[in-house]
Amino acid sequence: MSYRRNTVADEGRIERDLASSGWCWLEPDEAVFARDILACLGPLLPTQSGTDHHDLVPYTRKNAPTLSMSAQTGLDAQPRHTDAAFLPRPPRYIALQCLKVGEGFCPTILWPIQIRRLSRKRPPILFNSRWVSTAAGHSPMYCYVAEDGEDGLRIRFDPLSMRLLPSSYWELHDVEIMLDEYTNRVECIWKEGALLIINNWTCLHARGEGAVASPSRVLRRWAVGVI
Ligand SMILES: [Fe+2]
Repeated sequence: MSYRRNTVADEGRIERDLASSGWCWLEPDEAVFARDILACLGPLLPTQSGTDHHDLVPYTRKNAPTLSMSAQTGLDAQPRHTDAAFLPRPPRYIALQCLKVGEGFCPTILWPIQIRRLSRKRPPILFNSRWVSTAAGHSPMYCYVAEDGEDGLRIRFDPLSMRLLPSSYWELHDVEIMLDEYTNRVECIWKEGALLIINNWTCLHARGEGAVASPSRVLRRWAVGVI
C-alpha cells in the first residue's frame, strides 16, 4: 500500500491503527488529500447518486431521506451500528471528514471491538443468536453479530435494520450488554478537516447527542470496499 501521491499521511500508522484499534484519526493537516488516502485502502464504493461520497447533515425525521438512519432517529443520538449491515458484505472501511463542525457539540462515538478477546471467548450470544436483516430495498438476510470471515472475525450490528428471530433465546438488551463487555467507548470531537477512518468490520460507530443544536454540521462520508 502506498500513499505517495498527494498525501502527507503516515501510511504505517493508518494500517496499524485500523488493524489493531479498529479506527484511525488524522488531523486536518494530515488529511488534506483524504480521497487519495482512502483510495489506497481499497475501491471507493459508489453512492446511490453515483458519486464516491455523501455529505451527511442533521435531518429531522420528517426531512430525512426515506431509507436513511435519520428517518428513524431524526436529530437524536444514533444507536451504535455497522454501516450497511444489511449487505452480505458491508463496506470494509467507513471514512468521515468534517467539513463543518456546526454550532454545538456533536461528537461521533466509536465502540471498537476487542477482537482477540472475543475470538478466544466466543460468547454464544454473539456467535449463535440468529438475526434477520430487513432493510427496505434489500432482500431479507439471515445473519449473526459475530462471524468468521475469510479475513478474520467480523462484527455486524444495527438494531434498526436487524431483528432477532422471534424464536431466539436472547433479547436485544442481552446482546447490548454483551457488546458492552467487549467494547470500549471512544468519543471523537470534530475539528474542521479532520478525517476519521473506521474499520467497519471491527468497530461500531454512531453520531452522539447534539445534532439538534448543530444544524450546520457536515461530515463527508466515504465507503471503502476490499481490494
Ligand atoms: Fe453510520
